[in-house]
Amino acid sequence: MKSIDLEGLMPHMSTINASGADRPVVRVKELSERDRRRLLMHFLALDDSDRLLRFGTVLPDELITRYVQKLDFSRDTVFGVYDDNLRLLGVGHLAFTARETSTVLHNATLKARIAEFGVSVSANARGMGIGSRLFERAAIRCRNEDVDTLYMHCLSSNQTMIHIAAKAGMKIHREYGEADAYLKLQPASPGTMLAEAMEEQFATFDYGFKANTKAALKWWNRLPGRKGK
Ligand SMILES: CC(C)(COP(=O)(O)OP(=O)(O)OC[C@H]1O[C@@H](n2cnc3c(N)ncnc32)[C@H](O)[C@@H]1OP(=O)(O)O)[C@@H](O)C(=O)NCCC(=O)NCCS
Repeated sequence: MKSIDLEGLMPHMSTINASGADRPVVRVKELSERDRRRLLMHFLALDDSDRLLRFGTVLPDELITRYVQKLDFSRDTVFGVYDDNLRLLGVGHLAFTARETSTVLHNATLKARIAEFGVSVSANARGMGIGSRLFERAAIRCRNEDVDTLYMHCLSSNQTMIHIAAKAGMKIHREYGEADAYLKLQPASPGTMLAEAMEEQFATFDYGFKANTKAALKWWNRLPGRKGK
């Protein structure tokens, strides 16, 4: 039977990295309540140095658990990248806050809100473009939400994030000191609106495909006579 190359129909920014190496297509999906347990497993697997980079402090397991329990999916946006078993390989948390509430960055923009972004990728899934795709998706959401200022913990010292931001064509601003570096984003365009809508459609399709495949395999392995094979 002839197979259909769905990847060829899917929009994607790039599957090639800066050094020219081929990479698998990464789909970024918006997460919801049903992902809370997977989120917890993803964050608990981060080691101390990753927790420091991600949260600005080495959060113990209890505080990570509380952080995940308190995630408000109706207020904030959480993006994720799943593997074939629907485990989360990467997570990006985008939170919008009123400009006046930021003690430092309230002068950085005239827009009503600024955004804070935190991202993490499982240690065994790094260097595959997942962090870049989560970052690009968050930046597009900000632009579509009329937000032009994106803050991240540890941005000034995090060489990987600096590289990812530069690759996306963003300049790092440090007017308010090294500790409060932030990124400036372009305004929205019809292209950014379409890009976000299409990416979510394809990510939803990808999730459904993985979920169905997983369920079918489970069913298959439970068939009489298949035990232990
Ligand atoms: C930062 C992080 C999210 C990146 O995730 P990732 O999936 O590995 O990122 P990508 O694969 O998309 O891209 C990494 C890029 O950085 C480059 N890079 C890796 N280490 C680097 C370093 N020390 N200095 C500069 N660039 C570096 C890679 O070569 C790659 O570039 P390329 O795409 O041009 O080849 C991941 O390392 C992580 O979870 N770190 C711990 C938490 C953290 O630092 N979060 C950010 C602050 S909130």
